[in-house]
Amino acid sequence: MSQVYLDGKFLPPEQARVSVFDRGFIFGDGVYEVIPVFGGRLFRLPHHLARLEASLAAIRLRNPHTAEEWKSIFTRLMAEHGTKDQSIYLQVTRGVAPRDHAFPPNAVPTVFAYAQPLKYPPAEQLTLGVTAVTTVDIRWQRCDIKAIALLANALLRQQAIEQGAVEAILVRDSVVTEGAASNIFVVSGDRLVTPPKGPYILPGITRDLVVEIARANKIACEEKPVGIEVLRTADEVWLTSSTKEILPITRVDGRTVGTGKPGPMHARMFALYKQYKQAFIQGKVE
Ligand code: PDD
Repeated sequence: MSQVYLDGKFLPPEQARVSVFDRGFIFGDGVYEVIPVFGGRLFRLPHHLARLEASLAAIRLRNPHTAEEWKSIFTRLMAEHGTKDQSIYLQVTRGVAPRDHAFPPNAVPTVFAYAQPLKYPPAEQLTLGVTAVTTVDIRWQRCDIKAIALLANALLRQQAIEQGAVEAILVRDSVVTEGAASNIFVVSGDRLVTPPKGPYILPGITRDLVVEIARANKIACEEKPVGIEVLRTADEVWLTSSTKEILPITRVDGRTVGTGKPGPMHARMFALYKQYKQAFIQGKVE
């Protein structure tokens, strides 16, 4: 298996060892990123590094690497998989210290990263759409931090899977926040709406790209609260993430969304997204 990066070294995964006293293991005290790589290029790298910087600042951890250092770590990890589309996972924890909730004075952050070939969603999920269920958003009040502590997200996703769905759409006080591991868009007529940024959602890089593409193509797109009734009456619902890209949701809580098939706005946006991705692979856009 390909090598992973741990604290300055590239190692086979079975030789990469982290202390049981790492605060990532004990407290979930750390942050992470997932960065897609298309045609050998890191997609939206400056956006991912800016979000990493914001997550680290929010948990009061210094960024252990410069942008150039991160890039050279990723480039070496990516080389193992040639030009295949892949994703980079990285995480930074507060490091090893005797167990105490208070921050240790001199802990050295633990830095871990690896690359793996990207597993695209099965083709029928794009052609038929996927099923989602709504659930109460039981997470904390700093969902804008890309924290490794994902117990609530894992419970919510598992709950969705056990109900035969692909994603859980999270609802806080009758307002949609996001998916367990994705952002949500709804389409009413020819207008897109996605929940605004704030403490209750992760500022998704794919979400931002969809908003950017919509604006560049004069597609009406608003960032405003999405009430549960707007979700229930939407013509189309989509989820977005770096690894699932833009997936149509065609059933929510057992009810059909719109016609029950992926809609024309999804087809249009996905075509524009693929065009953008192609231009990126060819080095025409950054
Ligand atoms: N998750 N919201 C949550 C809670 C997420 O975990 C993710 C992504 C997103 C979408 O963000 P982006 O477009 O930047 O991928 C929104 C990643 C893929 C994961 O945890 O594997």
